[in-house]
Formats: sequence, structure tokens, C-alpha cells
Amino acid sequence: MKHIEKAADLESAVRQARQQGLRIGLVPTMGALHEGHLSLVERAMGENDVVVVSLFVNPIQFNNKEDLEKYPRTIGADLALIESLEQRLGGEGKAAMLLAFTPSVDEMYPQGEPKEVYHFGPVEEVMEGPRRPGHFSGVAVVVRRLFDLASPHRAYFGEKDYQQIAVIRSLLEQIKYPIELVACPIVRAADGLALSSRNMRLSPAARAMAPAINATLEQAAEMAEYEEVDDVKEWVLDTLASFHEVNPQPDGLRFEPEYFEVVDARTLQPIADWDEAGSDGAVGCIAVWLDGVRLIDIVKF
Ligand code: PAF
Repeated sequence: MKHIEKAADLESAVRQARQQGLRIGLVPTMGALHEGHLSLVERAMGENDVVVVSLFVNPIQFNNKEDLEKYPRTIGADLALIESLEQRLGGEGKAAMLLAFTPSVDEMYPQGEPKEVYHFGPVEEVMEGPRRPGHFSGVAVVVRRLFDLASPHRAYFGEKDYQQIAVIRSLLEQIKYPIELVACPIVRAADGLALSSRNMRLSPAARAMAPAINATLEQAAEMAEYEEVDDVKEWVLDTLASFHEVNPQPDGLRFEPEYFEVVDARTLQPIADWDEAGSDGAVGCIAVWLDGVRLIDIVKF
């Protein structure tokens, strides 16, 4: 693994790789790596000659200052994880060259806070969009900058941030970069909780309660066989909101669902009837507060 901090060094490494006709994969992350991120890196290693893993907590995509301050920063441990994955995959013969890119804010935004603003129309007008104003534009700014620096053939994103994938697809259509977007399945803990860097902020009691989100979504998928969309939505929200009454919790712990939407898997527009979903089917997307941490998850119907 080569550790790179300067944008110019990344550009020159990538230029050399391109001159040799090598395929480049990009895995953008905000660090605090877990098995979910590593699954993206592993997939990218299997499909490319050079893999750039970026670790950068992007300040301009946080609409909540406290969330930015509390976002876990574990660069030393992250680099060690990437290095041990590289050693394991090297042993398996998947020896893509790994570049770990950890720029500072000034390195990413040398002209100061970027002024550019992106709009994505209907895909950003639902769910996370109205609740996190400016978030997706901030994501697009940093992802485009990473595309410019890493010049990848493929870019890898996890499906936990389902709406983010739709936004990046739209970004690629707008900027017309010939980059293949690779959407990768969620990696879950053994108890079903979707892996997320934010999970490490949960207290032990909240961590023990959190798998109920996925369990509820799995039951919702079964209900979808015979219940209407609105009934499934109501059941999911009620089940989580009343979870602490049925299963008394210490310290007043409770789920506070922010939304649960059933949407077309491609357009992300809410559907009122299962038949309204297009050929990609329907997806349920949820955001829930627990123990001061905002957790998101999805279920495919
Ligand atoms: O999904 C994330 O971790 C971030 O939104 C991303 C894509 C790395 C951009 O900062």
C-alpha cells in the first residue's frame, strides 16, 4: 500500500498507471473503516489493477456541525486495516496496487470552500434531500474532485447510502465522465445491523437494540407479499416507535423513526401500490434515531 496525502502525488501516480494501460478503481470513504468498506476495496481489487481508497471526512456534506465534530476519525487504524487486507488479497493472487489517499481539507479545497452547487431534481427531493439541505451537493462536489484526481474507470459505493448512489448516477450523467458506477450490497453484522461508521457511537445497550431495525425491515418484506404499501409503511414506523414499550429498555432508550419510504428502486419516487415500481422493483428506505445517532438502512421488496 502506498500512502498519499498530496493531490498532485495522487494525480501523478494515476497518470503513470493510465500510461501503462492499467485499470483504476476508486473507493471513496470518510474513513472509520469497517467490513462494509473493506468489501468495496476487495471487490475493487478483484476488478482493477490499481485501487485508490480515499479517506476524507468531507466537511461540506455535513449540514449538522455536531455530526461533523463527532464523526469518528481513525486514520491510523484505517491504514492498518487496508494494509492487512492488501496482504491477504496479495496472498490470494489479487494483487492490485493500493493507494490510500488521505488529504487534508486544504489539499482537497485549495481555493477554500467550493462555491459550486449541484442539483439532482426528483431523486434529491425525497427522503434525505429535504432533511439534510446541501448534503448531496456537498457529496457531489467531493466525489467529482475525487473523480478528477483519481481518474478512475470504476467507482464503488455501498447500497446502505441508497439515495447517494442515485445522486452519483445523476452526477455522472451531468458531467458525462465515462466512469462505471458499481453499487455494492450492504454488509451486515451477524445480528443483522447494517455496518456503519456511526455504529461505534452507540452505547452497548443501544447497539444491542439496533438490530431490531433490520429485523423489522425483513418482516416488512414478508408482509409486502400480502399487504398494501401504506399498511407496511405504517406497521414499520409503529413497530419501531413502540419497540421500547414491548421490550423495556434501560436509560429511556427508544427508536425515533424519522421516515420510512417505499420508493421505486431507480427513480426513488414514492409508490402507493406495489405495481407502480418499475423493472428494478421497490426499495424501503428508513432513517431512525437511536441514542443520539441517526441510523439508515434499506430493504428490497
Ligand atoms: O458515503 C460516504 O462515505 C461519503 O458520502 C463519500 C461518498 C465518501 C463522500 O464523502
